[in-house]
Amino acid sequence: MRKRKKLITVAIDSPAAAGAGTQARLIAKHYNLFYLDTGKIYRYIGKLKLINSKKYSYNLIKTKINNLKLRYLYDKSLLSNSVAMSASIIAKDKKVRNIVHKFQQKCAYNPPKRYDGSILDGRDIITVQVKDAMFKFYITAKVETRARRRFNEYKNMRRKITYKEVLKSLKKRDKSDKERKYGALKKTKDSILINSTKLSKKACFKKIKMIMDKKLYN
Ligand code: C5P
Repeated sequence: MRKRKKLITVAIDSPAAAGAGTQARLIAKHYNLFYLDTGKIYRYIGKLKLINSKKYSYNLIKTKINNLKLRYLYDKSLLSNSVAMSASIIAKDKKVRNIVHKFQQKCAYNPPKRYDGSILDGRDIITVQVKDAMFKFYITAKVETRARRRFNEYKNMRRKITYKEVLKSLKKRDKSDKERKYGALKKTKDSILINSTKLSKKACFKKIKMIMDKKLYN
């Protein structure tokens, strides 16, 4: 695949609800980067399986991904806990990952011209998708902190789920995402660890910005 030259590429891996999406959006805005939340693609496929398990097939996924428009990923129903759990199951499948790979590569290396680069976040962005990224961040936080944040998000969306259920789901997803055979979540040696447990969104972004500015402008 041809890669656009002089691109700023940022890759973020993180366990669920660690604040990676929020940081990615802030980084994208500040540095004029194209943002792809790769988890949403797995959620989109996870939802396909939930609503139509009989028709679910590799051919269906291929067709859907070939015709995928970014606006489909803003669908609020993708945010539910059941879709997240389904995403985590279908994401173990190597064939599914391969189908998604091409779409993600295009976003990472050939973002729309008006952007100065790209930023992708997910589980296998540093390890598989954008191995040569200019910036690599592994964002994490204590599982209880992540569960509290996700629970509050659900509460604001008026979803009926308890803190305990959120915590249990996150632990289950962490285990599945870290222990699976393909595209498993792990921190690479060359990625920068950002622990957001005790950091506000602003403080977290400040830390990342300092690192990026140093490399970009020095
Ligand atoms: O990031 P998010 O919580 O939306 O991701 C939903 C699920 O999609 C994850 O639990 C994970 O199993 C899967 N995923 C993945 N690879 C990515 C992004 C997400 O396997 N790059």
